Amino acid sequence: MPNPPNLPPSEVTPEDVFLNRRKFMKTAIWVGSTITTSSIYQTLKPAPKVENTGKDIVVSASPSKSIAPTDELSRFQDIAGYNNFYEFSTQKSAVAARAQSFVTKPWTVQVGGLVQNPIALSLDDIMGMEAIERIYRFRCVEGWSMVIPWVGFPLSKLLEQVKPKDGATHVAFESFFDRQQMPYALFSGIPFPYLEGLRLDEAMHPLTLLATGLYGKTLPKQNGAPVRLVVPWKYGFKSIKSIVKITVTDHEPVTTWNRANPREYGFYSNVNPTVDHPRWSQAQERRIGETRLRPTLMFNGYGEEVAHLYDGMDLRRYF
Ligand code: MTE
Repeated sequence: MPNPPNLPPSEVTPEDVFLNRRKFMKTAIWVGSTITTSSIYQTLKPAPKVENTGKDIVVSASPSKSIAPTDELSRFQDIAGYNNFYEFSTQKSAVAARAQSFVTKPWTVQVGGLVQNPIALSLDDIMGMEAIERIYRFRCVEGWSMVIPWVGFPLSKLLEQVKPKDGATHVAFESFFDRQQMPYALFSGIPFPYLEGLRLDEAMHPLTLLATGLYGKTLPKQNGAPVRLVVPWKYGFKSIKSIVKITVTDHEPVTTWNRANPREYGFYSNVNPTVDHPRWSQAQERRIGETRLRPTLMFNGYGEEVAHLYDGMDLRRYF
């Protein structure tokens, strides 16, 4: 892993930076490369207009590594207007409007299970964690992708506080769920609360982030306010939103999409252009805002950092 240089808050990516190539080049992104081809099944609708209304977040440091010259930041209005958040709607362009009345204050995240120091984090505790900016590619299993300047903190920082006990192997995550606030969840076809999980070493990996913001401001509700997971080398559905519970366990936890359709969605769900979804190819993707298809990268381009986690594993079996 490269050592992140300390960057002053003035280096945090503001919303209009995608217009400013040189600044973006300085900010940098973690990348890699692999090439394959095929076609994508998805028809994509334009995102509705959404404003960046969050509060500024003070960012303490930012990572830096090589940049892929073809990677540009996605527009804020795409990131915050084209969403998967089935608690509110299965229609991407309908999520933002419906999520606006979602109550995210006060908020508590219970962190417990097989740990020495279980804690209940308040919103202030979460927002008080030392924040960093990370620009990551985000690849949805459906075949679209974005490049997002997240603000947040490594999940490892939190796990180090609670101290997993000997025998801990996995971490389970649970989203907030309230039928009153999320009446349309009933029509989504999946069970709630939304559940996700990681192996403990994946959870401790420095790339694994708990995001509290994007584009230098607090997270829009539709993107999983106040705190969501971001695991950039895995398909987007692993990045569970609006987390209320984090439980360290000694077994692989149940996850929503795997439970809903185990043939199509595995526990690991690492981005892998060589393992197709049963109903479509994963070899290419469409970056939101572009018309052309681009090759999907193994581990979404983060192979150098994460491939070792899967040494000796058959990635067709553990998909
Ligand atoms: N988390 C919850 N609680 N509910 C969801 O429906 N959708 C997942 C993931 N996290 C989802 C969720 C999927 S399928 C994707 S692709 C990403 O969130 C989308 O994140 P975004 O809307 O910020 O792009």
